[in-house]
Amino acid sequence: MDKTVFDYLPDGTAVEQYTLKNGYLSCEILTYGGILKSLAVPDINGNMTDIVLGFDSIETYSKQDGYIGALIGRYANRIGAGRFELNGKIYELYNNDGNNHLHGGAAGFDKQIWQVEKATDNMLVLTLFSPDGQEGYPANLSVRVTYTLGTDALTIDYYAKSDADTICNLTNHAYFNLSGHDNGTAEDNFIQINADFYTPTDKESITTGEIAAVDNTPMDLRKPLRIGDYADKDFLQLKLAGGYDHNWCINGENGTLRFAASAKSEDTGIVMKTYTTQPGIQFYSGNYIQDFPKGKGGAEYKKRSGFCFETQCYPDSPNHSNFPSAVLKAGEVYSHSTVYEFCVEK
Ligand code: BGC
Repeated sequence: MDKTVFDYLPDGTAVEQYTLKNGYLSCEILTYGGILKSLAVPDINGNMTDIVLGFDSIETYSKQDGYIGALIGRYANRIGAGRFELNGKIYELYNNDGNNHLHGGAAGFDKQIWQVEKATDNMLVLTLFSPDGQEGYPANLSVRVTYTLGTDALTIDYYAKSDADTICNLTNHAYFNLSGHDNGTAEDNFIQINADFYTPTDKESITTGEIAAVDNTPMDLRKPLRIGDYADKDFLQLKLAGGYDHNWCINGENGTLRFAASAKSEDTGIVMKTYTTQPGIQFYSGNYIQDFPKGKGGAEYKKRSGFCFETQCYPDSPNHSNFPSAVLKAGEVYSHSTVYEFCVEK
């Protein structure tokens, strides 16, 4: 395991970068936001290809609002009007996305320095303490996230425990481009999602509470579709979000590790299969990537340069009793796993 100082925060705090390696795979992770800064996998010709978007300095990370590569909490995705009720009490969160709360607020887990509990050649264990009242959330929450690099997969295991009832929904916000992070847009990537249903949203991207069938709509990704051929289809849900930016209800039993989604680049032959124990996955086609500073090595990032597979509880579930619950009871353990597995195909 290789450890270096990546950069310094404006207050002088050092941000460390850990490099994990296993076989052909390697990745870099920052203690700031637990950011997955790079992930290199071999293409069909054996050339190492960095498939996640990232930046070369903390200053550039701070000049974008895309949550690039970061760990997200306490509640990934949106909470409508930044309000929810728990045990008969209303909680008001910080609204950082118009009228709504997004990805944990103004200073979510993506903007915190995580502590390193353990680091080996292929594993990094990060911890974070989120105090009662942070961004409006109730209860002290202790979080642990483990990145493990296998010979053909990156696994992220999430754990949390609170001292009082709260809500918890953690994810990672990596933007992938399987053609290479610096190789144009990801619109040429093919996406497949193992879901018969998805959760439609309103014009502010808040889930309406409906669980809709994907049949006969461009939301049917059960067979692989090229992002660029479908994201701008004349379908209200795509029009409202400027492309794909929705939660799919993954088929199979919540809590069991099962196939959620895959992506493929015909350019590099790289295939990524995503497995998770979570009930949902947000497939976001990077519609709002704009005015971003130059990325790693001077890469240009623009609309749809990358897509996200954010495994999660359904968005705004604290306000929809028909969605799987995101309540974490005092003393209970929150845990889930997501695996991004790689291979090449002609
Ligand atoms: C959301 C998008 C948002 C992006 C960056 C995604 O998870 O679904 O709507 O623009 O994060 O904040």
